[in-house]
Amino acid sequence: MRFSALNLLALLSASLSTAAPTELTNFLLVTTDQPEPNYNSSNLKAVSATSLFDPYYQPALLLRLIGPGYGSLPNFTLASGTLHTVASGPHGIGVYEYNSTTVVAGQELQFLAAGQPDGNLALSEGYLLSVGGETDGWAICEGQLSAMTLWWKGAASNCTRTWVHAVTKAPY
Ligand SMILES: *[C@@H]1O[C@H](CO)[C@@H](O)[C@H](O)[C@H]1NC(C)=O
Ligand SMILES: *[C@@H]1O[C@H](CO)[C@@H](O)[C@H](O)[C@H]1NC(C)=O
Ligand SMILES: *[C@@H]1O[C@H](CO)[C@@H](O)[C@H](O)[C@H]1NC(C)=O
Ligand SMILES: *[C@@H]1O[C@H](CO)[C@@H](O)[C@H](O)[C@H]1NC(C)=O
Repeated sequence: MRFSALNLLALLSASLSTAAPTELTNFLLVTTDQPEPNYNSSNLKAVSATSLFDPYYQPALLLRLIGPGYGSLPNFTLASGTLHTVASGPHGIGVYEYNSTTVVAGQELQFLAAGQPDGNLALSEGYLLSVGGETDGWAICEGQLSAMTLWWKGAASNCTRTWVHAVTKAPY
């Protein structure tokens, strides 16, 4: 049996709509229930945008989930295993390049306004945030001030498993 032009088109658009963004240099991070990519981030299962969170009790910024109605979302670059983003400093004073610290099991993903050694983060297949090559291990846990923050291998009973995707457009 031969494929008709229509079948080919349907196949082509199906593969395009699930294709991962390639070679992202500047991206947003979203959480979702699915490891598979979706070209349209709005269509990722249980998708949530993420924003930086200053928990007050420590110098490091964390990543938390944020619903519709945010002002803006942080964007990221990844180099030498470290995520980079720009954010205002403590008490909103100054603007700094924040760098992710080496990701450790049982802790939040953290960002410090300080130089960092090479980290252990990468984008697996160009879109899935991984730690030491592992993509399965991210968790959303309820922490201080009821914020839902991103952990690596968070073990608390109130954590939910998630995947972190690099995307070009906000889901909402
Ligand atoms: C992405 O999907 C949403 C929801 O299904 C839809 O409203 C929107 O138009 C889509 N965006 C693009 C660029 O296709
Ligand atoms: C990334 O975020 C910075 C700081 O908020 C902003 O100035 C810049 O325009 C953003 N870049 C892109 C490509 O969205
Ligand atoms: C974050 O890391 C970059 C690249 O290593 C470095 O240039 C920058 O100074 C660091 N940020 C701060 C606030 O030190
Ligand atoms: C979630 O678990 C953490 C760590 O065990 C705990 O501090 C926090 O109070 C728990 N939150 C809820 C809503 O149960």
